[in-house]
Amino acid sequence: MTDIKELLLSRIRDVADYPEPGVMFKDITPLLADPAAFTALTDALAEIAAHTDATKIVGLEARGFILGAPVAVRAGIGFIPVRKAGKLPGATLSQAYDLEYGSAEIEVHAEDLTAGDRVLVIDDVLATGGTAEASIELIRRAGAEVAGLAILMELGFLGGRARLEPSLAGAPLEAL
Ligand code: PRP
Repeated sequence: MTDIKELLLSRIRDVADYPEPGVMFKDITPLLADPAAFTALTDALAEIAAHTDATKIVGLEARGFILGAPVAVRAGIGFIPVRKAGKLPGATLSQAYDLEYGSAEIEVHAEDLTAGDRVLVIDDVLATGGTAEASIELIRRAGAEVAGLAILMELGFLGGRARLEPSLAGAPLEAL
């Protein structure tokens, strides 16, 4: 394992049976509290932003905001929040997606993404891929291009990568 992988993994806490029985929650708060680990993560994500030629960062609520914002500052490009429905005050584009039980909806300000933008999506966890897939759909509907998806942790056994393959259409999915 590379040094950075080891460092990042050592700062992620497994919490059993949270938020419900049978689920192993991946808690990134120890990583955020450790400046060396948070800086190493930001550096690695900023490198992905550079080599994908991203012109904007999209962060997915809520932990994608924490990880994505410093990357945007480091890269000198804009940060665009993709929020859960009902939180953005301006004109939005919305995208619904299915959860295991029920459905959810995410939104972005329509004016924040336009043709010519190359967008790197950043989040903490890729699980089923539903949230990321919906965000890619939003970016495309706004007329922008998806430069890639950068994730701290990929839960491989849930099949998110395979699900995203068609929507990524060759854009890289990088999991640290
Ligand atoms: C988690 C995680 C991802 C998403 C991954 O967010 O941060 O955004 O779920 O799951 P998926 O790949 O199955 O879609 P959550 O919905 O718990 O939101 P939060 O960060 O606001 O708590």
